[in-house]
Amino acid sequence: MKAMLCETYGPPETMRLAELPPLKPGPGQVVISVKACGVNFPDVLMIQDKYQFKSALPFAPGGEVAGIVKETGEGVHTLKAGDRVAAAIRTGGFAEEAVAEAQRCVHIPKGVDCEVAASFIVAYGTSYHALKDRAHLQPGENLVVLGAAGGVGNAAVELGAVMGARVIAGASTKEKLEFAKTCGAVDGFVYPPVPLSKDQQKALSDEIKRLTGGEGADVLYDPVGDDYTEPALRAMAWQGRYLVVGFAAGGVPRVPLNLALLKGCDIVGVFWGVATARNPERAFADLDLLARWIAEGKLKPQVTERFSLAHAGRAIRLLMDRKALGKVVVTM
Ligand SMILES: NC(=O)c1ccc[n+]([C@@H]2O[C@H](COP(=O)([O-])OP(=O)(O)OC[C@H]3O[C@@H](n4cnc5c(N)ncnc54)[C@H](OP(=O)(O)O)[C@@H]3O)[C@@H](O)[C@H]2O)c1
Repeated sequence: MKAMLCETYGPPETMRLAELPPLKPGPGQVVISVKACGVNFPDVLMIQDKYQFKSALPFAPGGEVAGIVKETGEGVHTLKAGDRVAAAIRTGGFAEEAVAEAQRCVHIPKGVDCEVAASFIVAYGTSYHALKDRAHLQPGENLVVLGAAGGVGNAAVELGAVMGARVIAGASTKEKLEFAKTCGAVDGFVYPPVPLSKDQQKALSDEIKRLTGGEGADVLYDPVGDDYTEPALRAMAWQGRYLVVGFAAGGVPRVPLNLALLKGCDIVGVFWGVATARNPERAFADLDLLARWIAEGKLKPQVTERFSLAHAGRAIRLLMDRKALGKVVVTM
């Protein structure tokens, strides 16, 4: 089987297509014949050895796949060969075959294609956990989403709207903002690239306050970090919840903690991967629900770019260059 391998840490252009022996499932595992693999920001970090989890070289990036079960391992009773499944796997998805834990597989409902199935697990899983379990988002609340056209951000926009919030999108270009508006945001703002001057930071805070009728954000979803975080935190509503999701802009921000005191607000960490490992039953009940919502047309994950396995590096490059809209997939 073919796989796109990261053999030395570095840019995506250094990855190489290789021929590997077919995979065998261990106990509790299945081998999936991969049809599509969703691309996520951790792939960008992992191939450069910048992610919190290390993968021993060589490895195929790709942390979420959809396809058909080829073989089941010992003790697997919930799946059989031929089942259509999607799964979070951390690495190994840029390949014709991938190994997944059976208990991390979700059945793909009829009518949902593999490209969509491969692109909802991480983004929608993370954002649903963030908005429901960590922020306790309520209908009618103002939800401000930074990076609103990216993978997790765009899922947060769509889910926030479905959960009844008034969603305000923040993005780095007008095109991205317009894209987020087609996914459920009622309003939004464009922010400048980092580094932000003090004046630009104040303008960003003021704009969020203006767009929330002077009240500030009840919930703020932040997958970007860096210079965007402090001005966004300054624009929180009384007793709001600030969701720390990621640092795609590069820097892990340090914020003056008196802001949390003054706003009576929570600064809430979100770590979907660990939440899933600690409570797999709840996480997979959520994924089943999200898959159902997609089948019913209530959620519409936006797959905007597709790359063949031979060009999988270009998919990562798109995220790295901040050019992706919604989800990018690699298809086998
Ligand atoms: N906490 C969790 O459980 C969890 C789970 C999944 C992902 N994450 C994290 O969430 C973040 C986003 O992941 P994703 O998969 O949604 O990535 P993505 O699709 O590439 O989206 C990232 C967004 O970040 C913004 N961004 C700002 N500065 C950037 C830069 N220098 N390079 C690239 N993007 C930049 C971009 O929007 P603008 O151009 O509009 O700013 C982009 O749309 C990552 O930090 C990832 O590690 C966290």
